[in-house]
Amino acid sequence: MIRKYIFGEPIETDAVVVQIPAETKKFAEDCIRLEEGGGPCPRVSGTAGGDTEGWVAEGVSAGSRTPAGQAPPAAVFTCRLSDAGRIYGLGENIRGINKRGWIYESNCSDVPNHTEEKRSLYGAHNFLIVDGAAPAARRFGLFIDAGQKVTFDCGYTDRRRLTITVSEGGFTLYVLEGGSLQDIVREFRSIIGRSYIPPKWAFGYGQSRWGYKCADDVRGVVRGHRENGVPLDSVYMDIDYMEGYKDFTVNEERFPDFPAFVEEMREQHIHLVPIIDAGVKIEEGYPVYEEGIENGYFCKNEDGTEFVGGVWPGRVHFPDVLDPEARKWFGNWYRVLLDAGVEGFWNDMNEPALFYAEKHLEEIFEEIKTFDREKLNIGQLLTLQARLMNLAARPEDYRTIWHRYHGKMVRHDRVHNLYGYNMTRAAGEAFARLSPEKRILLFSRSSYIGMHRYGGIWMGDNHSWWSHILMNLQMLPSLNMCGFLYTGADLGGFGSNTTEDMMLRWLELGIFTPLMRNHSAIGTRRQEFYQFGDKESFRNIIGLRYALLPYLYSEFMKAALGGDMMFMPPAFVWPEDETAAQVEDQLMAGESIMIAPVYRQNAEGRYVYLPETMKLYRMRGADDMDAEILPAGHHYVKAALNEVLIFVRADRLVPLAEPAEYVDGVDASKLTLLHYIREEAVYEMYDDDGISRGETMEGHMTEIRADKDGRIRVSGAASPECRLTDV
Ligand code: GLC
Repeated sequence: MIRKYIFGEPIETDAVVVQIPAETKKFAEDCIRLEEGGGPCPRVSGTAGGDTEGWVAEGVSAGSRTPAGQAPPAAVFTCRLSDAGRIYGLGENIRGINKRGWIYESNCSDVPNHTEEKRSLYGAHNFLIVDGAAPAARRFGLFIDAGQKVTFDCGYTDRRRLTITVSEGGFTLYVLEGGSLQDIVREFRSIIGRSYIPPKWAFGYGQSRWGYKCADDVRGVVRGHRENGVPLDSVYMDIDYMEGYKDFTVNEERFPDFPAFVEEMREQHIHLVPIIDAGVKIEEGYPVYEEGIENGYFCKNEDGTEFVGGVWPGRVHFPDVLDPEARKWFGNWYRVLLDAGVEGFWNDMNEPALFYAEKHLEEIFEEIKTFDREKLNIGQLLTLQARLMNLAARPEDYRTIWHRYHGKMVRHDRVHNLYGYNMTRAAGEAFARLSPEKRILLFSRSSYIGMHRYGGIWMGDNHSWWSHILMNLQMLPSLNMCGFLYTGADLGGFGSNTTEDMMLRWLELGIFTPLMRNHSAIGTRRQEFYQFGDKESFRNIIGLRYALLPYLYSEFMKAALGGDMMFMPPAFVWPEDETAAQVEDQLMAGESIMIAPVYRQNAEGRYVYLPETMKLYRMRGADDMDAEILPAGHHYVKAALNEVLIFVRADRLVPLAEPAEYVDGVDASKLTLLHYIREEAVYEMYDDDGISRGETMEGHMTEIRADKDGRIRVSGAASPECRLTDV
């Protein structure tokens, strides 16, 4: 059951795609209590209400709004948590699967260090489930649909209390109740629309690095993989492919005849995936800049002039992607690269990242002039230092940016969390127009719920830290709850220096994530697999990903088309099992298997909790494995550096193909089945051509059955030749 409440005058986010009538009665307060704020809330659907003065105005003329400043929150909600109460969700965030015990903020930020004290990363995913509110251990889901900052104090201030603070501005609250954790997620997913589906090749392995500069660098990467028999489907192009970091340009010296280069790569089954940044370089003669100025498509200052910020290209304007017309214009620019044969993109710096705001920089330079170098005292020195250290992403600067949204001017802080979403939407909508038949790969750094319909996300600038392997795992189910299925982390770690064992262990998790990309920062140790000694293990582990493709693609597509999660924590699958609910380092990856990667250095195994008897496949590659049946309970399980642990549930199957060098080469007509058959095991396999739009289960499902006597029956869309593994 879903109840919808409107508070004040919300700015439409388009997160929810289903018409749900708003409650016309007073806010029910039956599971969560409204403490304060919100003006005349909830607003009775269809009537005006809420105090919008100061942030929504008809024009941009100066003085039409009250000055920017701290305003009281729009609303504060609170509920008590039972001792065993847990909180799930909030998408992309640090810390555990159970979010209780920390304070989170939805405030899309460019965060280079994902350390434990952070409150916000790049996305704003305001959906959570409270499982065990006091006193009656109630379970309910909440979605706070708001483009502004929202704070979730999940027992940080008071361990027994959840407090949600929505900062100034209107918003919509959805309360979802009834059924299991999975039921609530399904219900939520049913109102936010189908998750983005990439082309099948995007499930292949991708190699990336900030620092590949020219066509020969890319050729070298491809050669490194092909010569060593390590599969590869894509090479990512970071900012250096551009001319002066200008979006939709390609540096002709470093990439002469780019379309021919794209074709050369395609012949080797390699897809090039260029980065697109949010900021448009200010430069006379650069058509994106000139068109944007001419048509008023950039974000403004309060006085109607273009806002100037600084990002990689230096001084930039931000396309006002919240305005449908500007969004369409910006999206159309992707055509330049589509026409060159590119089939995938990653959108970056779209929180939007702001290294500085020009106006503030001017003030600082003026202030610096007042310092006398020879008479500088320590106080002034510290002031000087602080000024220069705090140029980036200042809330005060964000409040000087204005958008045109549904014909009105809206101050940026009211819609901050919608910016990256709408940049990616610009691309997604453009691809639907420009490539109506063929899927295009698209993922973003910043996001909001709703963006999951247009693209995936990667988890941003993590580090080569062991703790970040676990963080990668723990983010998966929270993101899935919010509709983000096509996701993954920078494998091996983006910042800091990786090690060979970390790279292997991280890949042993990464082979299960839909986006499987090795990416690292300029200046860090190189981490393409061929930089390390044990090439055979890399070949086998990455090869195993390709063998698992029929399974992983099926599980992804079933989750996308059915509105389900692909990765589920044990608590969601065995709700009655109190021990399972404590397990935060194992996940169900699809319906048949549980994964439990090793994420500690020098560990030769790990503890695993099995809520039920399962069959453990210890895999050193697609056809090198041993297996044993383990009873329910706690186990210490050995896992050498080159071994992946796959736990198969009873009466389930996992189809494996032969590994191939690229996704299109995977032959799904001959399958080997991992199995744990007690009576009869069944698997519903999905397959399609991997590229056409209009994806549907109909005509694409194959049922594979295997009974305890070893008989296999296949029916449905495909008729693969199947055999059971001997172990
Ligand atoms: C940002 C991105 C990172 C990229 C870098 C340079 O930090 O998150 O992935 O490599 O910018 O473009």
